[in-house]
Amino acid sequence: MKITTIVLAAGKGTRMQSQLPKVLHKIADKSLLRHVFDTSMQIANNSVHIIVGHQAALVQVSMQDLPINWIEQSQQLGTGHAVQQATDFIGNDDVVLVLFGDVPLIKESTINTLISNVNDDSLALLTVNLNNPHGYGRIVRNGLGNVTNIVEEKDATESQKLITEVNTGIMAVLGKDLKTWLSRLSNNNAQAEYYLTEVIAMAVLDGKTIVTSQPINADEVLGVNNRIQLAYLERAYQQIQVEALMEQGVSFRDPKRFDLRGSLVSLGQDIDIDVNVIFEGTISIGNNVKIGANTIIKNAKIADNVEIFANCIIEDAVIGESCRIGPYARLRPETTLADNVHIGNFVELKKASVASASKINHLSYIGDAEVGSKVNIGAGTITCNYDGVNKFKTIIGDGAFIGSDSQLIAPVTIGKNATIGAGTTVTKNTPDDQLTLSRVKQITIPGWQRPTKQGN
Ligand code: UD1
Ligand code: CA
Repeated sequence: MKITTIVLAAGKGTRMQSQLPKVLHKIADKSLLRHVFDTSMQIANNSVHIIVGHQAALVQVSMQDLPINWIEQSQQLGTGHAVQQATDFIGNDDVVLVLFGDVPLIKESTINTLISNVNDDSLALLTVNLNNPHGYGRIVRNGLGNVTNIVEEKDATESQKLITEVNTGIMAVLGKDLKTWLSRLSNNNAQAEYYLTEVIAMAVLDGKTIVTSQPINADEVLGVNNRIQLAYLERAYQQIQVEALMEQGVSFRDPKRFDLRGSLVSLGQDIDIDVNVIFEGTISIGNNVKIGANTIIKNAKIADNVEIFANCIIEDAVIGESCRIGPYARLRPETTLADNVHIGNFVELKKASVASASKINHLSYIGDAEVGSKVNIGAGTITCNYDGVNKFKTIIGDGAFIGSDSQLIAPVTIGKNATIGAGTTVTKNTPDDQLTLSRVKQITIPGWQRPTKQGN
């Protein structure tokens, strides 16, 4: 069975009060429309058609990379009119699935149930019961409990407005039926729009049964019309993600204070995450990893038994087993740490590889560098990698000891087991096994007096 998915995304979203089209607003750093698209891609044998109108070019560019048939609806004359634009792409025997670009949390399982309810004699409709149904189309049922039609809020009678079962807008219907009904739509209603919901009454008149199903959780079918609803669904989505992570062996001190804006591609057990941690991009984490409060990690690979203390920022980095990072460390892109490396407070690394068991514990900048194993880099050491125009590399041999407050002026190589005296400005390569220092001899000036305050 071929599925043809039509996603409605032509509306402006006036209530967002935004320059951006509504469907490009984001949940967990991913646009509403991309959420819907990603879910629809999980449906087998499916092709996706997206109806765009308001700022269509911007919407298309945002998802350029994806297998989507874009269909323009230049005037937004209603949900039925929107689906009409896709008529040429609907095969008679297709099951047409209608989704909304501003209803981002719909689940694959809910859609599959809907699809399984479609046949020659039926149309499948996703409905939900809401305590406050205001604004939604109401599901009208007859004395036998069968759906007879949908009435929009603005067209509803007072007694119909009391109905709490509402239309989610999401439906599945056989292609040939839908095409017949679309061709008969009128705009004879309170909003003078072509309502997709009118097909329900047409289906009933044609002797079809309307089979309804409901999502497990109403959040799945909530739409975004304003930023309050956007924020609500962001939290709902984060809750879903955090629960899935807890089921896989991650502990959160407070599940409400964690955000995943990307994906965890591999995950060990007994991961312990403190409050206010944010993961972005693509992340993998091994077993027994501890992550301290207020830490942001983006695109990183973290091996087993790593401990990251509070307030670290880590981006595009690979961290080996049993490393200890932070508090207050910053690992910038292309940082690679081998096993048992210690990176302490106020240390910044960029494009640096550090071999096993080395320590950079306090107040350092190490950039464009290759640091060997068992190196100890003293407090305040800086690689001077930039001459204002070009970047140069610093190589530090295994077992080297760099005294505090040294500047390593790249390009430069520190020999194996070399010792650099504190406060040295290293401008030339230093030999293995020896002490190098650039300090002037300490002197004391006899009779020197502190200056006193001059004038009145
Ligand atoms: C629609 C349904 C209503 C349902 C509600 C659920 C109709 C007539 N009404 O109402 O029964 O309870 O959704 O949220 O279908 N769109 C277009 N082109 C258009 C008009 C709309 O692409 O010409 C898109 C919008 O961008 C949006 C979706 O369709 O993504 C829904 O449109 P909207 O105007 O919000 O419909 P509602 O009045 O909320
Ligand atoms: Ca709406």
